[in-house]
Parts: sequence; structure tokens; C-alpha cells
Amino acid sequence: MQNIDQYLEQNRQRFEQELCQLLRIPSVSADSAHKADVAKAAEWVADQFRGMKLKVELIPTAGNPIVFAESPPVAGAPSVLVYGHYDVQPPDPLTEWKSPPFEPTVRDGNVYARGATDDKGQMFTHLKSTQAWLATVGQLPLQLKFLIEGEEEVGSANLEPFIEANKDKLACNVVVISDTSQFGPGQPAITYGLRGISYYELRLKGPMQDLHSGTFGGGVSNPANALVAMLSALINERGQVQVPGFYDDVDPLTGRERAEFAKLPFDEAEFMRKLGVKGLRGEEGFTTLERRWARPTFDINGLWSGYQGEGAKTVLPAKAGAKFSFRLVPKQDPKKLSAALEKKLRELCPPGIEMELVDFHGAPGVTVPLESPFVSAASQAISEGFGKTPVFMREGGSIPVVATFHELLGVDTLLLGWGLDDDNTHSPNEKFSLADFHRGIKSSAHLWRHLSQIRA
Ligand code: BES
Ligand code: ZN
Repeated sequence: MQNIDQYLEQNRQRFEQELCQLLRIPSVSADSAHKADVAKAAEWVADQFRGMKLKVELIPTAGNPIVFAESPPVAGAPSVLVYGHYDVQPPDPLTEWKSPPFEPTVRDGNVYARGATDDKGQMFTHLKSTQAWLATVGQLPLQLKFLIEGEEEVGSANLEPFIEANKDKLACNVVVISDTSQFGPGQPAITYGLRGISYYELRLKGPMQDLHSGTFGGGVSNPANALVAMLSALINERGQVQVPGFYDDVDPLTGRERAEFAKLPFDEAEFMRKLGVKGLRGEEGFTTLERRWARPTFDINGLWSGYQGEGAKTVLPAKAGAKFSFRLVPKQDPKKLSAALEKKLRELCPPGIEMELVDFHGAPGVTVPLESPFVSAASQAISEGFGKTPVFMREGGSIPVVATFHELLGVDTLLLGWGLDDDNTHSPNEKFSLADFHRGIKSSAHLWRHLSQIRA
């Protein structure tokens, strides 16, 4: 590995410059105004693979293109599928950014830009490690297949049919994804569980137009009142979700897992300080890590109604709406939840209000087994890349395709995150530590060697 490590050292600056090129492309998948930028990012990623002389395809879908690249099979060594996404979340609110979201800027050893960690920077580590092998050794020690999509941030709707239709092409022994976090600065981790998600929009309609709240208030159902009453009935004072059957398929945390979580050096006071909050609240009977990683929950993601302007306006609004989602744990079925939720909301909806529930997307939660030679290989590689043995943890975010890989390809995923919880993903001033970027590349380069020693 000596000449590979040396190559990585010598090319640090170029890797950073290339990452900045990708970060300059505003590939926001949620916003159709950025359609051309999304296509440009896909093309840029495909060009990277072309530069490495890998077999590359830029595959159009009903949505954004998929980039697929592969190296030749290696007899006796496993095939590894690397998944990542080149799309990013919208950058708003723009006024909160210290430097513009699509003008990558380095401050204090971090690169600031939308997509820096999620997922352009993390995904890119696997491309550079691969390039290092090809430029020094001349060939890879195992077969790599890359599946880089452009719709992860909007629910990956077109990816599942693609995987279903291309099972042979995607066949592999294990999947590698870097789109998660370390436990904390200087403490890398292997993530063995992610929560699932079920995302909705509720639209309520009352009178045909806004009314005077003095003339009509008290006599006519107010959609804004109805909205807050309906939403607050979905979770009780003890932090328990109130949709019938919600907990039916939730496995209790095992004593062993609770003990393992409790051993992690989580500092609650520091956690609160970093978030700027003076207290925490969640499901009764569980610790903060348990609540965030391994318990299902309900959060409102956005809500609107009535007068938002300066001063006071006495209005009874005609409409109200909200976006909200549930984070799910393995075995909870988003479809089953949708049916129970719709029934519950219809019962809660007062007379004089018409409701519509839109089901955006859903994906189940996952856990991956830790007793596997792939996990040992990853642990070795990360120890070499970061100079520290990784801990095992779960995380609260969702990567819908992990369950799909298990279901359709019959393979587990290694979730090897180089990010940090305070990287501001999905919020203003997203960043990625450049030191971790390079440690990630080194870990990845070593991972190819450790995985190649596992007999396929
Ligand atoms: N990189 C995240 C997933 C993630 C976040 C994993 C935090 C672990 C910790 C990913 O890009 C993401 O944000 N996914 C969405 C999925 C949704 C849009 C279906 C999420 O979790 O909200
Ligand atoms: Zn991501």
C-alpha cells in the first residue's frame, strides 16, 4: 500500500480542487429549475470514470440520470457495489450562508458548500481511492461497480425499478456507502442501522375564502385550528406516536444494545450547547441516542396558514397545510402506516373541513449484521485511514436504497461515514472536514485491499 499512500499524499491538492469543481454545480434535485445542473453533475461524475478508463454508462430515467461504471471482475475476489448520490438539498435560506452555497470556500480546514458532505464529498472519496489504485498498481484487486444516482434527496423513486430491471448488472457481494457520519471528531464509526421514513403533506380547506375572525370565529371551523389540533393528536405528552398500530412491529431495544449505546462517549450537555437548546424532549423511557437512532418518531417539517405579514390581522384562514414525516425502525411498514394515518386523520378532522393527505415517499428502516468478514475488513481499513478503531453505532437518517439492495440483490451494506453530526447537512453552511476527506480516501483505498482478501 506504500505507493498508493504516497500517491494520495502527493495528490491531496488536486483531489480538493476536483471536489470543488463538483461542488460548484448546483445539482438540486427538488427544484426543477436546476434540471440542467443536475444533468451537468451526472456528466461530470461520468467524466471522472471515463478518465479512469472504467466502463461507464449515463443512464436516463423518468427523473434524473444514473451514472453506472464498472471495472473488470477479478477471479476469486468479491465484487463490491459503491453507491452514492450527486444530487443535493436546496440551499435555502440563502441569507444564512457565510459564503455562497455553490462557491466552495475553505475555512478552518473545512470546505463549505451545499453537498460538501452530503454526499458529493463522501461519494468522491471512493472515486479517488480507485484512481489511486489504477494510477499506481495499474489494476484493482477486486471488481468495483459504481451506482451514483441523482434523486436520493427526493426519495429515489426511479432507482428501485432500475435495480429491479438490472439485477445481473448490479450483482455483487457487498455494497459500500459513505453518506453517514462518524461518532464524533476523531472517532470514526461503522453505522449498522438507519431509520426509515414516511413523508406526508396534509391539506385542509374550510370556507371558500378567508373570513373576518370576529364575525365568523367560533361559529365556523378554522382550518388552522383544525391543523394544529389534528397534528398534535398524533403524538402524546410522553412522546409516543398515537397512530393505531404504530408500535406493533417495533422491536424493543435489547439490553445489550442499550448497554453498547450507553458506553459511547456521548456528552448531552455538549450536544445541547452545540444546538443552542437548553433542554431536550423525546419519548419517555429512552436516552437521547436511543431516541435518535433506534426509536420511531414524528416531526412536522413545515406548516402554513393565515396571515404571516407584519402586525396583526384578524382573519379566519380558508386553508391550512403541513408537511410532516415519521422516522421508522426496521419492520415498520410505511404503507401500513399510511393507511392507519389516513383513517386517524379523517376521524380527527372536524365538520366543515375538507382534508387531503398526500403520501410523498416511504422507506423502511434497516439494520445490517456486524458479524461478517466485510465488517472486519471495513474496520481494519478505517483504522488504517483514520488511525483509530471505529465504533459501531446506529443513525437516525434514512438511505432508502439500503433496504432495496437487501431485498432485490440479497446483499448487505457497509455504511462507512466520513461526515460529522455538525456538518450542517440540509441546513445553511454545510461543510466537510478536508482532513476527513483525505482520511476517507485512504480508508477506501485500504478497504479495496482488505475486501479483496475475502474469498468470494
Ligand atoms: N445522507 C443522508 C442520510 C443520513 C442522514 C444518514 C443522517 C445518516 C444520518 C441522506 O442524504 C438523506 O438526507 N436522506 C433523506 C432521505 C429521504 C429524503 C428519503 C433523509 O434522511 O431525510
Ligand atoms: Zn445523502
